[in-house]
Amino acid sequence: MSFLMGDERPRCILCNEPSTDDNPLLEVRGWIQTMLGQDGMAHHPCMARTANDVAFSKGDVPWDISRPHPALVNLVKTKRIVPGRVFEPGPGLGHDAVYLASNGFRVTVLDISKRAVSMLRKCIEKLGLDVDLIVGDVLRNGPTEGEFDYIFERSFLQTLPPTQRAHYVLRLTEILKPKGEYIGIIRGPREPIPESQPYAFTRNMIEQLLSTHFRNIEITRVLSGSNNGQSEYFLVIACRR
Ligand SMILES: C[S@@+](CC[C@H](N)C(=O)[O-])C[C@H]1O[C@@H](n2cnc3c(N)ncnc32)[C@H](O)[C@@H]1O
Repeated sequence: MSFLMGDERPRCILCNEPSTDDNPLLEVRGWIQTMLGQDGMAHHPCMARTANDVAFSKGDVPWDISRPHPALVNLVKTKRIVPGRVFEPGPGLGHDAVYLASNGFRVTVLDISKRAVSMLRKCIEKLGLDVDLIVGDVLRNGPTEGEFDYIFERSFLQTLPPTQRAHYVLRLTEILKPKGEYIGIIRGPREPIPESQPYAFTRNMIEQLLSTHFRNIEITRVLSGSNNGQSEYFLVIACRR
């Protein structure tokens, strides 16, 4: 990107490019601040890329439960979802993607962390599985042709700043076939309301976010483990209009 001499716009502490309307600078806070070891203003994709690379390199991934999520296993075992094409944003170490690929689903994953994707690549090669791996930002990269039967995500929506959520839902509609299903395991409410990731959601927030583009929104409470114990999550299933 080029800019005029004397451009006084604030610059990202990570890439040194200025703020733009479609990629504004946000304050570095919370978990990201801890991972980066610095504060200031940065683009969201720069923060997500750098903080997650640090976390995966250090093995400091408190959300990881080292196995596919039991709620996903149940959907497969009960045939609530059946083999088809699945897209997973933010797979991290990829336990869910590996489980789906091992059970006949054709899986594509996209993660902003090169480090996470390289760890997942090693794992799927070792297991002899076929999973398409993409490094990128789901808001800017990845499929757009509406070819997927399902989108599955776990602990991903909670990482996006509130200003990016509507854009993310639009991306879901570009990726899914008409009548394709979104399946999310989403961090539930907590007090005090967090001002940085992992953000928290209520049922109403989830319904409001999805209802313009999705119908038959089913929301059930589930627990999800982390290094810090069990937290309340929602299993959300919604059908693209
Ligand atoms: C909280 S972790 C969840 C990982 C995994 N789904 C799990 O539950 O173990 C969020 C993941 O999303 C990735 N991520 C964050 N922002 C992203 C973005 N804009 N596009 C794609 N991946 C992103 C991170 O690198 C990380 O792997």
